[in-house]
Amino acid sequence: MSWITKTLTSSIGRKIIMALTGLFLCSFLVVHLSGNFQLFKHDNGLAFNAYSEFMSHNTIIRILEWGLVLGFGGHIVQGLSLYFKNRAARPVGYQVNHIEQNSSWESRSMALLGTIVLFFLVVHLYNFFGQLRYTDVAVDANGNENAYALVVSSFHNPWYVALYVVAQMALLYHLVHGFGSAFHTLGLNHRKYTPLIQAVGYGFAIVVSAGFASMPLYFLLFTDASGELSSTAPQALQSLMLALR
Ligand code: HEM
Repeated sequence: MSWITKTLTSSIGRKIIMALTGLFLCSFLVVHLSGNFQLFKHDNGLAFNAYSEFMSHNTIIRILEWGLVLGFGGHIVQGLSLYFKNRAARPVGYQVNHIEQNSSWESRSMALLGTIVLFFLVVHLYNFFGQLRYTDVAVDANGNENAYALVVSSFHNPWYVALYVVAQMALLYHLVHGFGSAFHTLGLNHRKYTPLIQAVGYGFAIVVSAGFASMPLYFLLFTDASGELSSTAPQALQSLMLALR
């Protein structure tokens, strides 16, 4: 076995892969969230469709997508493998440690939280990525792809919105623990910096998951079937949307 294979299959090697792929996926979330904010522009989907068109046709983005496949693949495979290894090593019967008292709920539930996010991701990729790239369901009468219309109609389905909101709650807890844990694995463990990293992790997790959850909730609760803000929406929201124009 070469040293690379040995390192990558050792417990610490697997944890390093989890940390690096996890931080890489965090950077993807920031880019994806910023792009998706175009949905809030009051322009009938013009900006969002331009962004979606860029994402699906730009050569550099197409190459980066393979990095994303590797990032998600590595994170999921190593995560599950670590989970089963730890489970097999856990003492059964006589419990020396009260795990609940020594660790947080989210740290013990990372595999469950990750699986909920993975389920969401499969449905999400099928509905948006798959349909936009490989079918004509979002192509209008003039032959133009209207990704905005597909998103708006999906977000008028309460079941779909519920899945998004539950998945974002799982993502929130997954990120709260994962962010700090990644820096810890990479050796950044310091009396002075660890609380700061944890605070940034909390902030990051809240902004990302609330940002993603705000989109389906906004379209379901406050817009009509074409994505136009309904006149019954709260006045404060109407003013905010006007300012974003
Ligand atoms: C309200 C929230 C979201 C909306 C509106 C949204 C929208 C979209 C759309 C329209 C695409 C297809 C892009 C294209 O090929 O033209 C896409 C792709 C994708 N989304 Fe999301 N997304 C959301 C949340 C998320 C979350 C939370 C994750 C991860 C946990 C995620 C992961 C992905 C991935 C991996 C892809 C495929 C990569 C790519 O962009 O080519 N999305 N999303």
